[in-house]
Amino acid sequence: MADYVFSFFLSLLLISSTNHVKSNEEGYISVDISNKGLDFAKDFLVQMAESSLVPLDLPKIEKSKHIPFIGTVHMGLSNITIDKIHVISSTVKAGDTGIVISVSGATANMTMNWEYSYTNWWLPIPITDNGEASIQVDGMDVGISFNLTNNQGSLMLSPLDCGCSVKDISIKLDGGASWLYQGLLDAFEVRLTSAVENAISKKLREGIVKLDSLLQSLPKEIPIRNIAALNVTFVGNPQLRDTSLTLSINGLISAKDAYAAFPYHHLEHLLASLEYLLASVPVKDPASMVTISLHEKVLVSASSVYYDANKMHWIVDKVPEQSLLNTAGWRFIIPQLYRQYPDADMNLNVTIFSPPSLKIKEHQIDVTVHADVVINVLNSGEVTPVACFSTAVSGSASPWITNNNLGGNIQLDEFSLSLRWSKIGNLHVNLVRVLMSTAMRTVILPYINLKLSRGYPLPIFHGYTLQNAKILCSDSWIKICSDVGPVKQLSIS
Ligand SMILES: *[C@@H]1O[C@H](CO)[C@@H](O)[C@H](O)[C@H]1NC(C)=O
Ligand SMILES: *[C@@H]1O[C@H](CO)[C@@H](O)[C@H](O)[C@H]1NC(C)=O
Ligand SMILES: *[C@@H]1O[C@H](CO)[C@@H](O)[C@H](O)[C@H]1NC(C)=O
Ligand SMILES: *[C@@H]1O[C@H](CO)[C@@H](O)[C@H](O)[C@H]1NC(C)=O
Ligand SMILES: *[C@@H]1O[C@H](CO)[C@@H](O)[C@H](O)[C@H]1NC(C)=O
Repeated sequence: MADYVFSFFLSLLLISSTNHVKSNEEGYISVDISNKGLDFAKDFLVQMAESSLVPLDLPKIEKSKHIPFIGTVHMGLSNITIDKIHVISSTVKAGDTGIVISVSGATANMTMNWEYSYTNWWLPIPITDNGEASIQVDGMDVGISFNLTNNQGSLMLSPLDCGCSVKDISIKLDGGASWLYQGLLDAFEVRLTSAVENAISKKLREGIVKLDSLLQSLPKEIPIRNIAALNVTFVGNPQLRDTSLTLSINGLISAKDAYAAFPYHHLEHLLASLEYLLASVPVKDPASMVTISLHEKVLVSASSVYYDANKMHWIVDKVPEQSLLNTAGWRFIIPQLYRQYPDADMNLNVTIFSPPSLKIKEHQIDVTVHADVVINVLNSGEVTPVACFSTAVSGSASPWITNNNLGGNIQLDEFSLSLRWSKIGNLHVNLVRVLMSTAMRTVILPYINLKLSRGYPLPIFHGYTLQNAKILCSDSWIKICSDVGPVKQLSIS
C-alpha cells in the first residue's frame, strides 16, 4: 500500500499540467514539474531500477571452439547472473518525443559457472573441468524513452524505445587453465555482451509495462475523512516541454458517504494532507521542483462539501473575553436585556446558512460568510432565545509557509448586521454592530490569528515531504512552489 501511495505521488510528480489550464478542460489542480523535479523523480526511478533489476539471470551460452595444441573444446557458461548494477550518471529530458532517461558509464558485477570438455584420439577419456568466474561490466550506456498520455483519465506510460550498450567486459576465472581464459574471451565476449544488453533492455521494458499498469490501476477518487472524495481523474494529456512536465487533474471535491470500507485508507492521509494545501495559496519559481496550482473552485467544492456535511452551526459558549457572554456585558448596549435577565449567562447559536464564498485574489483569499446569530439567555437551566441577527462577515486570509509550517493571518474587512427578530423590543442595531465588530477585531480574530500563527506542519508522504515551500495567491489560483525531499536524509546515489 505504501508503494501505492508513493506511486500516486510519483505519478503526480511524473506527469502534470501547467498553471494555465485551458478553459475547455476541467482541470482544477495542476502540477508543474520542473527539470529539477524531473531529475528528482528520475533519480528515484534509477535507484529503483538498480535494485529491482538484479539479480538478473541470463540464458546459458554454449559453444565449440578450436584451440591450438588442444583441439576442439566444448565450452558452456551457465548460471550467468547480474548481481549488482551501479549507476554513476544519468539524465532526464522531456520533449515532443516523450520522456528520455539516459544512463551513461554504469557498471555491473556478474557471476557465472563455466565448464568445458574435449576429447582427442590420443586421450583415453574426455577431459572436463568446471568452476566459477566473476565478470566486471564497464561503460554500460542505457537509454529508455516512453510517452506519457491520458488514457480515460489515467496516466498511460508507453515504452517507445529502450536500448543498452556495453563497452567492456572483463572475466576473472577462479581456477581453470590459462588457455581457457583466452579461449573463453574469444569465444564468448561478444555473446556475453549482447546477452547483457538484451537482458537489461527486456527487463527495463517490462519495468515500464509494470509501472504503467500500476498507474492505470490507481483510483480515480481519493476519500477525505469518510465524507468526501477528491476527483483525481487526469484531464488532458500531460504536457511535456523542454524544462517541465505538466499534469492536470479534475481536483474537485464532492460529497461521498459509505466510504467506511474504502480499501485505500492510506490514501486518506494523502488527502487529509491536501486539506492543508486547500486551506492556503503561490508565482512560479523556476528553482522549485514542483508547482502545484489549485483553482478557486477546488476550495469552493471543499467548502460546500464541508458545509453540507456539518451543516455548519454551532453554539458559542466560550469566548476569549467571557464577559461578552453575560447580559451584564451588554448592559449599556441592550439595557432591556439586562433588565429582564440581570447577570444571566448567554450563549450564541450561530448558523451559517450557505457555504462560505471564496475568491482568490492577489496575495489573499477573500472569504464571506453569512450567518444567523441567535442570542440565548441561560436562566436557571432554561435556554431562552431572545433575539436573532443576520450577519455577513467578509475577511481576507493570507497564507504563508515557513519552515514547513503552513500558517496564515485573517483580517476582518467588513461586518454587517441586521435584526431579524427580537423578543425584547427594539434594539439599537448600530450599537450592537459596533460592539460585535469591535469584539471580533480585538478579541476573536487575534485569538484565531494567534493559533494560525503557530502554523500546521506540512504533510509527509511516506517519508517524503515538501521542502522550501512557498505559497502564492493570484487571480483565481493558489500556487505552491516546492522542492520534495526525504524527511530523513536518504542517500540517492
Ligand atoms: C549459481 O550461482 C549462485 C551464486 O551466484 C550460486 O549460489 C548457485 O549455487 C549457482 N548455481 C549452480 C547450479 O551452480
Ligand atoms: C505521445 O503522445 C502524444 C499524445 O497522445 C502524441 O501527440 C505524441 O505524438 C506521442 N509521441 C510519440 C513520440 O509517440
Ligand atoms: C564489483 O566489481 C568491482 C570491480 O571488480 C569491485 O571493486 C566491487 O567490489 C564489486 N562489487 C561487488 C558487490 O562485488
Ligand atoms: C471526475 O473528473 C472527470 C474529469 O473531469 C469527470 O469526467 C468525472 O465526471 C468526474 N467524476 C465525478 C464523480 O465527478
Ligand atoms: C440553533 O438555531 C437553529 C435555527 O436558527 C435551530 O434549528 C437550532 O435548534 C438551534 N440550536 C440550539 C441548540 O438552540
